[in-house]
Amino acid sequence: MAEAQASILFVGDLVGGIGRRTLLECLPLLRERYDPTFVVVNGENVAGGLGITPKAAEQLFAGGVDAITLGNHTYHRREVYPYLDSEPRIVRPANFLGIQPGHGTCVIERAGVRLGVVNLSGNLYLRAGRPAFTEIEAALGQLGGVDQIIVDMHAEATSEKVAMGWHLDGRVTAVVGTHTHVPTADARVLGGGTAYITDVGMTGPRGGVIGVKREQAIESLLTQMPVRFETSEEDPWLMGVLIRCSATPRRAESIEQILMPRPL
Ligand SMILES: [Fe+2]
Ligand SMILES: [Fe+2]
Repeated sequence: MAEAQASILFVGDLVGGIGRRTLLECLPLLRERYDPTFVVVNGENVAGGLGITPKAAEQLFAGGVDAITLGNHTYHRREVYPYLDSEPRIVRPANFLGIQPGHGTCVIERAGVRLGVVNLSGNLYLRAGRPAFTEIEAALGQLGGVDQIIVDMHAEATSEKVAMGWHLDGRVTAVVGTHTHVPTADARVLGGGTAYITDVGMTGPRGGVIGVKREQAIESLLTQMPVRFETSEEDPWLMGVLIRCSATPRRAESIEQILMPRPL
């Protein structure tokens, strides 16, 4: 009889304390429902909406998160720089410059399964020192022969994310898009066996504007003047995907979108 196949719960950008609490409160329900082998979250907005601190990362790891990916807000908090170098389970885009703190890949092991995690940044409208499409080869090379690989392609442009999905189809278990905070309706397994979604969405307040209090976002757009942004607390939801791995290494059997309100 085949062993139970591995699965990966990937959760989109946690926004602020509300995003962190929403994840930690939803996680027991999700564990009961899906029994994921791995939990990977994007944490680039978890510290007050921008960046991450060692304390916030430690809370996530203590709550059962196996690995954290980041994005364009990686370096917002200075206190995280040494932590990015010393904590193997947190990754920033692999196509940032080598001189920037942190690393772009990690390997975690659960139940005898080795999962490689890669973070990439898009090059359109985002600042990344090196091209994602060439640096991914070095990142995959670093991972060697792991059992499964998930790539978080943190990008603004849907075209870059769709292209990365096709580029890696048949070589990795999953390519999941993050950054826009708005989930897309295109989750599917591509022809070569790679699970794909253009954007997983965010874990945070649906009552705001991609996480920000909506009055402040609207005021800034109306007046074209600087406005102090705070994280909305209204209507928090968890947004993620559950990827079931195939018996063939580095391929997926299915990808299921998860959109759920924070339990009352
Ligand atoms: Fe984000
Ligand atoms: Fe981002």
